[in-house]
Amino acid sequence: MILLLATSAAVADGEKLYTENACGACHGPTGNEPIMPTYPKVAGQNKEYLIRQMNDIKSGARNNGASVAMRALVANLDDDDIAAIAAYLSKL
Ligand code: HEC
Repeated sequence: MILLLATSAAVADGEKLYTENACGACHGPTGNEPIMPTYPKVAGQNKEYLIRQMNDIKSGARNNGASVAMRALVANLDDDDIAAIAAYLSKL
């Protein structure tokens, strides 16, 4: 029960963080309508995969394509924020 509650709280925070950080400006309001054909859809992806991609973009380990376009945005997110956003996006 506690675990279930914690999970839904993380998802709710993830939605808030996604909106507040204007992630939807590039990936679309529900993560499924990128504004550029070369930008990825982030909705419905595997949670662990999303966490890894955000951390790698943040650290610079991932520096391909247009990842520089969003480095400044993930730079402000801590591990909890990233996990909450990934949980939210993976459920869309
Ligand atoms: C200025 C536009 C822009 C904004 C704003 C932006 N992103 Fe991105 N994002 C990108 C681009 C472009 C890529 C792909 C980079 C590449 O070409 O490899 C990307 C990649 C990603 C990926 C990896 C997807 C994958 O399948 O590998 C995730 C996850 C992601 N963004 C989440 C976010 C989140 C969460 C936010 C808000 C904190 C955000 N993005 C804000 C442009 C943006």
